[in-house]
Amino acid sequence: MLTKITPGDFKKRVAFGLSGSDANDGMIKLARCYTGRSKIISFIQFEIALKYYMPAEEIAAVIMEPIAGDAGLVVPPQRYMKRLYEICKANDILFVSEEVQQGFGRTGKWFGIDLVKDRDTNERDGVAAAKICYRCWEKGVILTFFANNVLRVQPPLVITKDDMDRAIDIIDESIQDYLSGDISDEVLGIAKGW
Ligand SMILES: Cc1ncc(COP(=O)(O)O)c(C=O)c1O
Repeated sequence: MLTKITPGDFKKRVAFGLSGSDANDGMIKLARCYTGRSKIISFIQFEIALKYYMPAEEIAAVIMEPIAGDAGLVVPPQRYMKRLYEICKANDILFVSEEVQQGFGRTGKWFGIDLVKDRDTNERDGVAAAKICYRCWEKGVILTFFANNVLRVQPPLVITKDDMDRAIDIIDESIQDYLSGDISDEVLGIAKGW
């Protein structure tokens, strides 16, 4: 199944692990072994690093979480990803797509909700996120919120349609409760996001 849904027509293998950290550990070992190079670096300012202080032939891999989860489900521009990948390719550096939260088979049907005070300015509404999450929890649905204002909705893969419908109703009711001013400020001291 995992090899089937992984894009690309090439030989694929799966290594099962216990956690995201475990996957990263495995990736570091594999990348070093495969390239014979030692360094694993982040994508941030990658081009500048290559130009000024980091010899390409020392870099085994560049790692990036394409849809940045904890930062609030930030989707990068395609052009940016393409350029990053091309620089890696040109320098024989592996590109690691380090997806634990969203990008791997979870876009589309699974979603985050960005709560903003104003759709034009996109000012984050952390109070709304905290209150809605708390009310959902009181009614039986566990959500969390990232980057202050993004509700992360991540149902278990085994969820039934009935449970899914019920959960969506609860989220909807909680948003309505928030809009009606029915959730007290006291919950702000308790509801903690990520
Ligand atoms: C992108 C990413 N990588 C790695 C991890 C670490 O995963 P774990 O806590 O399962 O070790 C996380 C955790 O959320 C993550 O979001």
